[in-house]
Amino acid sequence: MARPIIISASILSADFAKLGDEVRAVDQAGVDWIHIDVMDGHFVPNITLGPQVVKAIRPHTTKTLDVHLMIAPVDRYLEAFAEAGADLLTVHAEAGPHLHRTIQSVKGLGKKAGVALNPATPVEAVDYIIDDVDVIMVMSVNPGFGGQAFIETQLRKIAALRARIDASGRDIALEVDGGIGPQNIARAIAAGANVLVAGTSTFKDGPDHYAANVAALREAR
Ligand code: DX5
Ligand code: ZN
Repeated sequence: MARPIIISASILSADFAKLGDEVRAVDQAGVDWIHIDVMDGHFVPNITLGPQVVKAIRPHTTKTLDVHLMIAPVDRYLEAFAEAGADLLTVHAEAGPHLHRTIQSVKGLGKKAGVALNPATPVEAVDYIIDDVDVIMVMSVNPGFGGQAFIETQLRKIAALRARIDASGRDIALEVDGGIGPQNIARAIAAGANVLVAGTSTFKDGPDHYAANVAALREAR
């Protein structure tokens, strides 16, 4: 049976002056999760938003808040994001020396835990935490900015991680983040991804187009 496909709308491409409206609009347009990119100007070369903004978004949707933490250090901020209403906290394997401890902290806060791998990070990075995570995320761009081109080599990584997940027998979502649109979503799914982050391709052309943009992603499969 085909696994369900989840579209996670990255609000990095939303109008930040109208975030509540934007979140409601993509919710109504049919996305499954809301992807929130947290950047610190240190782990990645851009600064975005913090837990206060997650808290402000929370009342505008009942859908999963998929919080992507591109920050180092990360541990001291986990509780604030959990309390702000995140459902899933994804941390980077490269962001600190104590990934296992960080994942245990997320689970201790009662949240789903994800691990993200940068484009140059090998699949082996998940070998000793695969029994502990709910989501593995392949970065198909270098983290920091929306609107970048999909890095094709990451299809091989998605396939390798799908094999590891299936071998684990655990229910782990395989998420791909960066450069996803109607032109490549089918290939990412064929490689084994089941959660597709879409920023530019969701928010393209403004609110009147969100439903059609999301439909184009689903139909491109
Ligand atoms: C990049 C972010 C992505 C980004 C995706 O660092 O993690 O979530 O918003 O944007 P698009 O879909 O425009 O590549
Ligand atoms: Zn992201």
